[in-house]
Amino acid sequence: MRNDQFGYEISVSSPAAAAAWDRMVLGFLAHGASVPDHLSAVLREAPEFAMAHAVKGLFCLMLGRAEMTETAREAYQTASVAARQGAPLPREMGYVRALGAWLDGRPSECVRALEEILARWPEDALAMKIGHATRFILGDRHGMRSSVEALLPAYDAQNPARGYLLGCHAFALEETGEYGRAETAGRLALSLAGDDAWGLHAVAHVYDMTADSRGGLDWLEGREAAWAHCNNFRYHVWWHKALMHLDQRQIGAVFDLYDTEIRRDHTDDFRDISNATSLLMRLELEGFDVGQRWEELADIAERRTEDACLIFADLHYLLALIGGDRNAAVGRMISRLHRDAKRGDADEMTARMAHPGLAAATGLEAFGAGDYRGAYLNLAQARRSMQSIGGSHAQRDVFERLTIDAGIRSGFLDEAETMLRERSHQRAGTLDTFAATRLDLISSSRGNWKTAQSLPAE
Ligand SMILES: [Fe+2]
Repeated sequence: MRNDQFGYEISVSSPAAAAAWDRMVLGFLAHGASVPDHLSAVLREAPEFAMAHAVKGLFCLMLGRAEMTETAREAYQTASVAARQGAPLPREMGYVRALGAWLDGRPSECVRALEEILARWPEDALAMKIGHATRFILGDRHGMRSSVEALLPAYDAQNPARGYLLGCHAFALEETGEYGRAETAGRLALSLAGDDAWGLHAVAHVYDMTADSRGGLDWLEGREAAWAHCNNFRYHVWWHKALMHLDQRQIGAVFDLYDTEIRRDHTDDFRDISNATSLLMRLELEGFDVGQRWEELADIAERRTEDACLIFADLHYLLALIGGDRNAAVGRMISRLHRDAKRGDADEMTARMAHPGLAAATGLEAFGAGDYRGAYLNLAQARRSMQSIGGSHAQRDVFERLTIDAGIRSGFLDEAETMLRERSHQRAGTLDTFAATRLDLISSSRGNWKTAQSLPAE
């Protein structure tokens, strides 16, 4: 029996395994690229360590890929056997239960199992971060915030995870609209943990949500070291920077970041695909030609139409399929969503496929076909429930933009204006370039309409 860096017992005897475990946890908190290596080292040194197998399974599920669900199932079996043969601690068994619940289609039960761990062992920062990430996938922003806030008193200045906890607090504050406090928490997080890319990124979100793209660029420029160590999360931070350039209408910088950072490696992680597809779609909505960039994304999305892991991923795959004019694959995805909808609430993720997924996907399909009325009506039907697809406000904003533009293009001007006002209200009353240009467009469209009405009949 050894203690981890937070002073909690772990059922490993090998000092090398314990050291690798601590490094793995810190790496995960920092979104570090080294996490798989550290976890492999733990499992190599302590193959009987049930908690490590369970964590491997949870990491696999977070990837949102059908083939990784199988790997997660195998990890659960291994963890269960190791638990039966060894003497796992109650805290460790909490991780095994958390994995089992998610594999049963109940990720919110997974979160509950992690909260049970935190109620007794609040400084278990790994449980905190996995819970935070799972709530993020579920779109549970208020749960994210209350979970972190309950833990704040337990993390004193000596706790090596205090900076990362504050980074999570910053993000949860931002997603619940407390922009001033979010920025303060994020800046403090980064001062305590210089590699807290999540905290840095939370502050970038604040700049996005308060329509201060110039301030956001100033925040990110010169702080690249805070996300250079990251796994594919680094592409996401570059994506945020590209959004700021887009708002500034620095289109050359957007394409440069797209080609040299965001899609440099042509990976097929759904989060990387979501960065890329939502950026290309935003560029197209602003009237910019994105060239052949849809093609490699559409190739990847064609292979994912039957995955059915996360509706957030599916809707971004659909963007790629629409952008790449892959109509047959769009049809396959929509058919699969109809099948999911018939299964109803078979599990928590399928329930999201049914609602709001199917309406949103139908709206996207219509948008791709140039049927803006159909796009608007379906996307508007999904709109009030889009929080539940998971991700952040900034990520889901691509669907909000599509809904608004579909409304404008099909003459739902009052409805589009109302959505823009609501969007601005959520953003502390600010107007970004997207909103300002659309409000101008609506205003001039009404003028044209009035002019047309007043023309004498021929
Ligand atoms: Fe983000």
